[in-house]
Amino acid sequence: MSDIIFDLIEQEDERLKNLIGLIPSENHTSPQVSAVLSSHLSSKYSEGYPGRRYYEGNQIIDQIENLAIDRLKSLFGVPFANVQAHSGSPANSAIYFALAEPGDTVMGLSLAAGGHLTHGHPRVTFSGRYFNPVQYGLDSNARIDFDQVRSLAKEHKPKIIYAGTTAYPFVLDFAKFREIADEVGAWLIADISHITGLVIGGEHPSPVPHVDAIMSTTHKTFRGPRGAMILVTERGLERDPKLGANIDKAIIPGLQGGPHNAITAGIAIAAAEAAEPEFKTYAAQVRKNADVMASALMKRDIKLVGDGTENHLMLIDLTNHSDGLGTQVAYAMDVAGMYANRNTVPDEPCSPFYPSGIRIGTPLITTRGMKEAEMVKIADWIAQVIDIVKEHKLPEERKERGKFVAAFRKQADANEQLLTIRKEVIATASQFPIFAG
Ligand SMILES: Cc1ncc(COP(=O)(O)O)c(C=O)c1O
Repeated sequence: MSDIIFDLIEQEDERLKNLIGLIPSENHTSPQVSAVLSSHLSSKYSEGYPGRRYYEGNQIIDQIENLAIDRLKSLFGVPFANVQAHSGSPANSAIYFALAEPGDTVMGLSLAAGGHLTHGHPRVTFSGRYFNPVQYGLDSNARIDFDQVRSLAKEHKPKIIYAGTTAYPFVLDFAKFREIADEVGAWLIADISHITGLVIGGEHPSPVPHVDAIMSTTHKTFRGPRGAMILVTERGLERDPKLGANIDKAIIPGLQGGPHNAITAGIAIAAAEAAEPEFKTYAAQVRKNADVMASALMKRDIKLVGDGTENHLMLIDLTNHSDGLGTQVAYAMDVAGMYANRNTVPDEPCSPFYPSGIRIGTPLITTRGMKEAEMVKIADWIAQVIDIVKEHKLPEERKERGKFVAAFRKQADANEQLLTIRKEVIATASQFPIFAG
């Protein structure tokens, strides 16, 4: 039987090969990781942990899960790892369930400042509905405002402080977070989902000496399958020797049933790949590419939040043109063959749905083998796209915005200048494999 799904997969492969992916939270997996994801491992039920399952027939699965755990422990130099959380948000939920009671206070960077929804966003997330969220922000240089972190921590005495980001272009100072967490007796958790690969590659300081536990998704700079890891440090186990066991319990029976065993195998392979010297080269190139792209963009008078980057991502601030231009620029970039995402900027003057920025990053294109010369080209194409659409200002009247965006999209789809850039993008991108190593 030939299912249309296979045609669609081929089309998606073509899209990935021909276009330029700038979403900083995405990556491509190696052929080895991709191969295990379609294996029969996904058929097996394995509720429980190695040696303690509720189902028989897990002799091989136990070995796979133990390998994933052991490889992560050795890669990060930590005494405990759990690889069963189905993704990053469930993994963060498990950490809350292991360390806090509903109603306890949790602190994290606000979404608008580059934090993640699961770090205590009010109302719409579990972290803001079942816990008492306190959110810190940025200073006038777009860096985390540690004076504010300290004063909020002293005032609210949070049970948990999250140090982690999803749209923040600078290095995280885990030692400073530790000082503050110690002053108020809070658990300190690093969510390094975005920067795991940089940490392993030595391109970002490691949180391991400073924090009690670490959460990371496995599909971003780590280059594994979509999943998550929770690590507990020596320091965390010293404070509570049961911390690992409590995290295990928070995953199952607390939040989930059985693990996704094919994903576990993929995490084990990605951990082995990340331990190879080539991974360091990859992480270094991600950083180099980000620096080159940032300075090429700024040379073209494009404003970046905080005037640059110290990691794998950049935030383009479009407010010098108009507020709420992110939707138009992101769409036009996609028409021109470069997919990214619209994003709020610090002190967003418009709205999260119609934000004024674009978030871009180098993990995907570096995996494809692109280097400095391609970064300059991409920056130039982005600058051209902004020039083409910068006069398409979002209406101030909210009711008119939906209609405006629909009409803008129609125009952009047929815009000859954008389609000419798309041809140039395809000519360059199609020369690179999806996974170069
Ligand atoms: C810092 C951070 N934490 C958690 C998550 C949630 O991961 P998932 O989408 O796998 O639930 C993300 C995803 O973007 C993230 O950036």
